[in-house]
Amino acid sequence: MRTSAIIAILALAGLINTPLQAGDADAGASAYMAKGCVGCHGAAGKQPIANYPVIGGKPADFISAELNKFRKGERNNPIMMPMAAGLNDADVANLAAYLAGQ
Ligand code: HEC
Repeated sequence: MRTSAIIAILALAGLINTPLQAGDADAGASAYMAKGCVGCHGAAGKQPIANYPVIGGKPADFISAELNKFRKGERNNPIMMPMAAGLNDADVANLAAYLAGQ
């Protein structure tokens, strides 16, 4: 019992320490539609509503960093904060991979 608990804890710690995998662009493309990003940022992130930023073709590092700032509230924007709040780490990586490839 005790040994297995220790093994389980070590296994979990290993998972947490595993570096995040590069995003999956196909999953990102689906999330881009499903999460409603397309409604404001346009097809492929390139035809945004006036004054909304073009995000298609920007570097993946930039996209994920900005999304994480909105998630943490470090970048305060009343439109994007609720959008980013619904994303998990995998969503962010996938969306960044998809958008960077546009
Ligand atoms: C309701 C409209 C709307 C939706 C939906 C929306 N965004 Fe945004 N997004 C904005 C606006 C407006 C900004 C600019 C915010 C600011 O000025 O800080 C922005 C900014 C961004 C930025 C930063 C771009 C830059 O150049 O700094 C990223 C990345 C981004 N959005 C990604 C997404 C993703 C991914 C989704 C879907 C999960 C999404 N957005 C959904 C309106 C929207």
